[in-house]
Amino acid sequence: MVTMKHKMLSDFVLVLMIMASYCHAHNSKQKLEVKKHLNSFNKPAHKSIKSPDGDTIDCVDISKQPAFDHPSLKNHRIQMRPNYHPEGLFREIKMPFLKSRKKGPKTITQLWHKNGRCPEGTIPVRRTKEEDVLRASSIKSYGKKKFTSVPKPKSADPDLISQSGHQHAIAYVEGDQYFGAKATLNVWEPKIQQPNEFSLSQIWILGGSFDSDLNSIEAGWQVSPDLYGDNNTRLFTYWTSDAYQATGCYNLLCSGFIQVNNEIAMGASISPLSGYHGSQYDINILVWKDPKEGNWWMQFGNDYVIGYWPAFLFSYLADSALMIEWGGEVINSQSDGHHTTTQMGSGHFPEEGFGKSSYFKNIQVVDSSNNLRAPEDINTFTEQSNCYDIQLGKNSEWGSYFYYGGPGRNQNCP
Ligand SMILES: *[C@@H]1O[C@H](CO)[C@@H](O)[C@H](O)[C@H]1NC(C)=O
Repeated sequence: MVTMKHKMLSDFVLVLMIMASYCHAHNSKQKLEVKKHLNSFNKPAHKSIKSPDGDTIDCVDISKQPAFDHPSLKNHRIQMRPNYHPEGLFREIKMPFLKSRKKGPKTITQLWHKNGRCPEGTIPVRRTKEEDVLRASSIKSYGKKKFTSVPKPKSADPDLISQSGHQHAIAYVEGDQYFGAKATLNVWEPKIQQPNEFSLSQIWILGGSFDSDLNSIEAGWQVSPDLYGDNNTRLFTYWTSDAYQATGCYNLLCSGFIQVNNEIAMGASISPLSGYHGSQYDINILVWKDPKEGNWWMQFGNDYVIGYWPAFLFSYLADSALMIEWGGEVINSQSDGHHTTTQMGSGHFPEEGFGKSSYFKNIQVVDSSNNLRAPEDINTFTEQSNCYDIQLGKNSEWGSYFYYGGPGRNQNCP
């Protein structure tokens, strides 16, 4: 009996040891892989700045940024400024905080500015932490979207939509050739029910079909606990040239977008934020195509030309965009069998209006003469207006605008 017991015990211990060594081997293999990945995101820094929100911002030599890992960019000559600006004036890439501030709309900056700045010749890159990568379902999927998430207004098939769980409230134009888009949107901190859900507000610049070859450039603000590990509102960009399959990513998390600006970090927290019944803070986003080089440029606010997506990244967008969308998107994972309580925008419906609802104002497109103009024939789309809604308007001060958003789950959205 005793020997038998011993035998069982030693077998058990042996199994445990094998399991442990297997796990260890598996873990260290994964660790190595995570390390390799981190090295591709995180480049050697001249200087690192700790942000109050826990981020580390690395000031990376402009010529060593992630974009230049791309085989097609090995001999790329970086363009420090666009050849053309659709607002006519040529804007210097400068240190706007040295300029005297005009009174008027409040300017938004990034939280990490409280603790330092990146020198010229470098760009600020939000450092990716090991736990950021480990939160992703696979190392490869980190920084990428999991599902096609461009609202497809015309063929809105409710089954398809509830399947992927993405919900939108957007305004859009189509049927022309577009060479850019602009909007001013106020910034909020929507509540997210589940870490695997997100809430974002953005511009989409779209080309191609919605199936396998969709080209998309996206920019705006988002709250995404899975991507960033917190509930902060962050400035972001996204691009894909194959409907979110193999190409593209958020921010600088893959090679593609070339940043030239040393003040704005992609993926960094925006501060301050708008309050319900409180002060309203908004940001400007402009994306336009340089008619000479064909690159798509992005500007944040009135002063920050951030950088560009080289034309060769895209097929359809190498020419022009066929559709522009503005608005919000959330993921409704219905984890408890009910609609998510994840908020869109301010979490309040459009009819509450200024100071309470979230807005996009002065929405504009860049036309084929490379001029900014008010879009014609704006349509709206939302899957379930009882959960998130949108309301268009037009006046002399705000141009074409809309209020959008909502609380998600409520009496009429169970
Ligand atoms: C984010 O917000 C949710 C509730 O909306 C909360 O449960 C969660 O702990 C927050 N996460 C972090 C990292 O603060």
